[in-house]
Parts: sequence; structure tokens; C-alpha cells
Amino acid sequence: MRRPLIAGNWKMFKTIPETVTTLTQLKKNVADVHHCEIAVCPPFTALAAAWGVLKGTNVHLGAQNCHWEEKGAYTGEVSVAMLADAGCKHVIAGHSERRQYFGETDESVNKRMFAALKGGLIPIVCIGETLQEREKGVTFSVLETQVKKGMAGLDARQSGQIVIAYEPVWAIGTGKTATPQQAEEVHAFIRKLYADIYGSLASENVRVLYGGSVKPENVSELMQQKNIDGGLVGGASLEAETFTKIIKYK
Ligand code: PGA
Repeated sequence: MRRPLIAGNWKMFKTIPETVTTLTQLKKNVADVHHCEIAVCPPFTALAAAWGVLKGTNVHLGAQNCHWEEKGAYTGEVSVAMLADAGCKHVIAGHSERRQYFGETDESVNKRMFAALKGGLIPIVCIGETLQEREKGVTFSVLETQVKKGMAGLDARQSGQIVIAYEPVWAIGTGKTATPQQAEEVHAFIRKLYADIYGSLASENVRVLYGGSVKPENVSELMQQKNIDGGLVGGASLEAETFTKIIKYK
């Protein structure tokens, strides 16, 4: 059985005091939650303070990106060991905003994913088609390339360990959610593709999250779909009360 994961991606929002206030409230709200794993990914500057609030609770800490080298002259970058040291358990790799604005490619996503695994973090690898690609009818081939290149080379153990986030780019921050049926169709495709590459055991174990305008109003129907194992939540994870409603989707 795959354990659902609800992860909040805070993007470039929140100072240290704002992080502490939000997480202090959130951890109280969700202390009784057992039906899913919970993670929050604040900006780098707030990670240490966030860990101060979350250590020992059922809310895990994640980061939004990592570099693939262990250390070195890479101004502006943060290593996996630094994230682990700050308390992180997860790290997002290849978010569409990184692909769109910062030149992230399937090759660099692949390197970040392996660096995370090597350093003991769980990578949340993001894939998704743009509106133009969906309208052209190439959604499945775009996703196939992203999975085949971005997740290439995993061994049997690693292939079940990573988390995939399907985030249609047209649904991110737009208020437009994929319908549960649209999302399920893609999630089933990803799981089948994954089975073809890594075998049925890995495909049974790998968690595939949905991301893109997840809200309290649509989360439970999304979570009822057979192949949706959780959510990567942006805007609606910023307020403790709203994010709590999403986490308590059951
Ligand atoms: P959104 O963002 O929930 O604000 O659409 C999701 C994401 O980018 O991970």
C-alpha cells in the first residue's frame, strides 16, 4: 500500500518569523493526522527555523531544490548534505518554474535526483506538460520523455523510493485544476510507463502526486482516484488553516 504524501511548496514566500508562525499553527492542527505523510518546503533561508518548530513532529521538512555536487565553487547553490543538515527529508527536483525560468532540463533534473538519493533525501521529481503541448495533443509523449530522461538509471531500490509529482503547467497557480478524471488518466499512464521501465514492483510502490491548484474544495475527489497518491500544493499551502483542510481531505 502506498502511503499518501501531502507536500506544501512555499516557493519564494515567507520570512523566518512568518514561517515560524505558520508552522507552529500547522503542527498543532495536524498532530492527530495518521492517514498521510505531511511535508512542507519553505525557502532555504527559513529551513533551519522551520526545523526548530517541526523536529519530532509528523510534519516533515523539504527543500525546493538542490545542487548535484557535494561541495565546491558553485555560488548560489545548496548541496544535499546542507539540506540534510538543516533537517530536510525531501527535496523537490525539476519543478516547472525551474524548468521555465532557470534552464532546468531533464538531464539536470536527473543529476539532482541522484544527488538527493545518494545523500539520503527523497526526491520529489516534477513533470508536466504546458497548455500548448496539451492542445497539440502531445501530453503523453512529453511526459514519456520527462520520465525516461529525467528518471533514467535508477536501480531497483531507488525506483520505488522516489516520489513523482505530475503538475500540468497550465494548472499551476492559475486556479484551473485538471479534473480528477484528466489527472487520473495521466497518473495511470505514468504508472504504466514506470512499470514498463522499472517493473511492476517499483510501479506499485512509487508515489505519484498531483500538483496544480489543489484546494480544500477539490482535494478529496482528486485523492479518491486510484493512481493519485497525494498532492504537491503551492498557493493553498501558505496558510495553516487552508493547508490543514487539504491535509485532512478524508
Ligand atoms: P499551486 O502550485 O498549488 O499554487 O498551483 C503547485 C506547485 O507549483 O507545486
